[in-house]
Amino acid sequence: MIGAGNVGATCAFVLAQMKIADVVLLDIYEGFAKGKALDMSQNASVLNYDGMVTGTADYNDIAGSDVVVVTSGFPRQPGMTREDLIGKNAEIVAQVGAGIKEHAPDAVIIVVTNPLDLMTYHMQQTTGFPPERVIGQAGVLDSARMAHFIALELNCAEEDVSPMVLGGHGDTMVPLPRYTTVGGIPITQLMPQDRIEAISARTASGGGEIVKLLERGSAFYAPGSAAAIMAESVLNDRRRVIPASCLLSGQYGLENVYIGVPCVLGANGVEQIFELELSESELASLQTSGEFYKKQLVDVLGY
Ligand code: NAI
Ligand code: 2OP
Repeated sequence: MIGAGNVGATCAFVLAQMKIADVVLLDIYEGFAKGKALDMSQNASVLNYDGMVTGTADYNDIAGSDVVVVTSGFPRQPGMTREDLIGKNAEIVAQVGAGIKEHAPDAVIIVVTNPLDLMTYHMQQTTGFPPERVIGQAGVLDSARMAHFIALELNCAEEDVSPMVLGGHGDTMVPLPRYTTVGGIPITQLMPQDRIEAISARTASGGGEIVKLLERGSAFYAPGSAAAIMAESVLNDRRRVIPASCLLSGQYGLENVYIGVPCVLGANGVEQIFELELSESELASLQTSGEFYKKQLVDVLGY
């Protein structure tokens, strides 16, 4: 885990409870990482997990990692968009990418740092890793938010909601009600269009809603858990089908840009990308989202 802050520590905690990995928390603040790791380790006998959790500021300690989750970087404050973080976080991602390339060259990297789709591209370019080994976390979180709002609306079990949210992790994200089901039934048959639109809009601004409430920093329980779910699918070669930010090479009419699409996540990272049949307007929304990030890659990051 690079970055032992709110998201990194939450992700480490969830992984420790899954009992599937030893976790190294790396942060520029060594004591911060060591302190959190020690606290989590002392929790092992309370919660009955047995993997090692250690803290460090030294990249030698991540040698041989199968998965590296990157959460280092600044979170949003009220009034900021994710894109406002580009400058500061691009520098951090470049620095971290160099460390991973040198010390964990075979790892699958799961990027969480915002602006997510841009930082995932930047990480892939920095490391030169094959694109299937550099993936961005956003879709699990955005879908979970949509699932929660649907479960509230229908007063039904969260676990029976199967949402689908694609596109970039920002204002251009694309909730797909036609592909969102509850107990196998499309939500388009379960609630009126105006409620679906309200839920889609609340999903798209879901991160901002929490930033406003927290007043300092951004969400971390669901984001940390979402990254852990992705790491688990890779570590155990589960081949779960989930939306994640992947490098597109012609799918959905988009090329050379990272954006959220449904994929199979296994031991090699992205094993396959699924191309859904989209309506004209759904495809247009996804392409608008992709083009937005492509422009940012060129205009702001100089790619
Ligand atoms: P935080 O501020 O709690 O933690 C960030 C940590 O990164 C800090 O401990 C800091 O010391 C560390 N750090 C900074 N530069 C570093 C470097 N060069 N090397 C190693 N560690 C470094 O922030 P939080 O809430 O954990 O968020 C982290 C990032 O994740 C932010 O960019 C945030 O916007 C993003 N995020 C993305 C989500 C997504 O769905 N993709 C959801 C939630 C947050
Ligand atoms: C979130 O969606 C800010 O990206 C972060 O909560």
